[in-house]
Amino acid sequence: MMKVSKFGKKIAATSGIGQLMDDLGSALANGRHTLMLGGGNPAHIPEVQQHFRRSIMELLEDKGEFERVIGNYDPPQGNKRFIEAVSKLLNNEFGWNIKAKNIALTNGSQSAFFILFNLFAGTFEGGVSKKILFPLAPEYIGYSDVGLVENLFVANKPKIQHLDDHIFKYYIDFDRLKITDEIGAVCVSRPTNPTGNVLTDSEIKKLSDLARAKNIPLIIDNAYGTPFPNIIFTDAKPIWNENIIVCMSLSKLGLPAARTGIVIANKEIIDMVSQVNAVMSLAPGGIGAVIVTNLVRSGEIIRLSQDIIKPFYQAKANEAVEQLAEQLDGIDFHIHKPEGAFFLWLWLRGLPITDTKLYQRLKKRGVLVVPGHYFFPGLKEKWRHRQECIRINYAPDKETVSKGLKIVADEVKQAYKVK
Ligand SMILES: Cc1ncc(COP(=O)(O)O)c(C=O)c1O
Repeated sequence: MMKVSKFGKKIAATSGIGQLMDDLGSALANGRHTLMLGGGNPAHIPEVQQHFRRSIMELLEDKGEFERVIGNYDPPQGNKRFIEAVSKLLNNEFGWNIKAKNIALTNGSQSAFFILFNLFAGTFEGGVSKKILFPLAPEYIGYSDVGLVENLFVANKPKIQHLDDHIFKYYIDFDRLKITDEIGAVCVSRPTNPTGNVLTDSEIKKLSDLARAKNIPLIIDNAYGTPFPNIIFTDAKPIWNENIIVCMSLSKLGLPAARTGIVIANKEIIDMVSQVNAVMSLAPGGIGAVIVTNLVRSGEIIRLSQDIIKPFYQAKANEAVEQLAEQLDGIDFHIHKPEGAFFLWLWLRGLPITDTKLYQRLKKRGVLVVPGHYFFPGLKEKWRHRQECIRINYAPDKETVSKGLKIVADEVKQAYKVK
């Protein structure tokens, strides 16, 4: 066995999530019909895909343009025309004052988090260590392993409000939130993966004020948010200022394979992200940008997001909640209010088995979900709640979701031994 550096050991180690993703992937590949309610793939929405197809066909027919687009590297900051179009769109929509110098592209927003978290946390001059704070756990599983050093994260337990017998919502517990000098940046996903939570405007304002007072950035992961893909069912005002880093993505719009992330931040941060792009990959890939530039310029991307994508997922969320509510009758179950993204976060209070055991039993029956305990990066406290939740992706087709949820309900009932 060849020797590997400390960095190598950390980054290339088999992580819990790596193993789980493998598990999900191989279950899908083994030929048996699996009901895939794990993973983070968006739905294939024909009306949206048709726009991407048309856009690629137009590019192919445009003599010279296709060759130009595929035959050159973009600058490390990313495709200029797309960046211009995105800044105009955001300024028009939200009255922001963004210039091209405030935007950089990355190969998926996942790599933006890798860059940003390691820029603002880790070892600083004088040997000081800083961390990324997640003010509200549960939080996105993909953040867990991006640190170049150990223990890069701290997280805060949420407050829970029961909105009715079976619907609840997490809020940030500001009384317990401590932004000490050890914190290098604050990060939230809004809408949140895995819960479908959308932090309220007042929560975001408070976080922004706290971060500004400490002169550290507030990172808002807008992968599911406005203005695209706009998978957000509540009224939530997006904000940006020189102290806020907004991360967006083309993935949940329906283009995860294009690996396009969009970072919006002050010029110093954008310059650093561009430099890292140059070192790690010379330039971010430009195909995603090319596919959607005209949709962004014309504003069509907003219509698609508002009139097609949002209602599509909203209807699926409602159906999934309705079905679970009916089939889990008699169980002490609680679903996080679906306010956005495309996941149901199911909390099974007093579940007699762990989330992992439930995951394994479901897998045996051909249904894949994600066990909840993975979604608490940085939370040190013991908390049984972690082992009482699962995340269900309701983006797949109706039949898959409905069959899958039926089996989930059945296994949950067996776990509680309810007939
Ligand atoms: C909350 C959140 N942020 C970021 C990402 C990363 O997406 P991508 O790298 O495809 O832009 C995902 C993907 O599932 C996500 O759910």
